[in-house]
Amino acid sequence: MNLFSPVTLGDYSLRNRVVMAPMTRCRAEAQAVPSGLAIEYYASRADAGLILTEGTGPSAAGIGYARTPGIYNATQIAAWRKITDAVHARGGRIFCQFMHVGRIAHSANRTIPDPPVSASAIRAAGEMWTDSLGMQPYDLPRALELSEIPSVIAEYAQATRNALAANFDGVELHAASGYLPNQFISPDTNKRADAYGGSIENRIRFALEALTAMIAAAGSPGKVGMKIAPGMKFNDIGHEDPLPTYLALAKAISPMALAYLHVLRTGIGAETALREVYPGKLLVGGGFKTREAASRFVEEGHADAIVFGSSYLANPDLVKRLEQDAPLNTPDPSTFYSAGPKGYTDYPVLT
Ligand SMILES: Cc1cc2nc3c(=O)[nH]c(=O)nc-3n(C[C@H](O)[C@H](O)[C@H](O)COP(=O)(O)O)c2cc1C
Repeated sequence: MNLFSPVTLGDYSLRNRVVMAPMTRCRAEAQAVPSGLAIEYYASRADAGLILTEGTGPSAAGIGYARTPGIYNATQIAAWRKITDAVHARGGRIFCQFMHVGRIAHSANRTIPDPPVSASAIRAAGEMWTDSLGMQPYDLPRALELSEIPSVIAEYAQATRNALAANFDGVELHAASGYLPNQFISPDTNKRADAYGGSIENRIRFALEALTAMIAAAGSPGKVGMKIAPGMKFNDIGHEDPLPTYLALAKAISPMALAYLHVLRTGIGAETALREVYPGKLLVGGGFKTREAASRFVEEGHADAIVFGSSYLANPDLVKRLEQDAPLNTPDPSTFYSAGPKGYTDYPVLT
């Protein structure tokens, strides 16, 4: 078993263990429709074992950043279908990552007037980019009513049906990086006194219900994965001693037989602890920059596949470069979230 050997994740046999990380690129068109440029961006990376898309809104309420796509209407589904078809034409596999941002939002970035929702009405510290007003403080979210939670869960189910209609191979629940499921998981952002707050069991309930709904809509757990990042402080998501919560979450999802659990390394060693308790396939990402480091991690059995973020962003032919141990292009952070083709579809490939 090595980085370039096939692996079965849920319903699919992947041709290698190199996974493209979900990466928001802020190139979507008005009304959260993926752009035509995204076809080439993803298709040129189709020799990954698996592509995970940029964070995608399961509903209009779930969108909070400028120029990010959704998967909640027919126009978006049709645009995504061109992307999935292009990836499939090159023999690739692609899952859609569902990113409901919750409180990480500003009204200038949204297509609906409703305030953002969260587990509790606590504003995130800091500011975010808007195209019309520049940097702005995050909006103050509204706490979801207990009676509303089923409808938010139902959005994940509908988004799953939409993803299958768009010919995605599967879907990933983004439960990391301070977005809505993470806002329920972390006690700092969840002050609820009902069945969704307080104990670990209650704080992980939202994520478990979202996964259950996605599995039912997908018709198979082998088309569903989840991303977590225990210990990540991004987007003002504090969580003291997060490991017990995430170990409980991993144990709770074990019987679901998901395609995979995807863990972003944050330096607290959660990926090692999770490997011990989680019997399913584990994808690990965060800071893998060389063939040597990624290969060793897989060969030593710490993960079933490696997720590459910024290196994949800057190297459409990453699999080939890793196979040949060729030098990698350096990512340019100034174009990570800028509009247009620069830094998106113009990174050079090996000839
Ligand atoms: C430009 C950019 C956008 C990102 N957007 C997302 C996102 O939409 N969803 C997500 O789960 N992670 C996102 N991430 C995090 C990556 O998926 C990955 O976890 C992170 O980059 C660490 O991997 P690396 O060290 O290989 O870059 C983003 C990272 C970058 C660089």
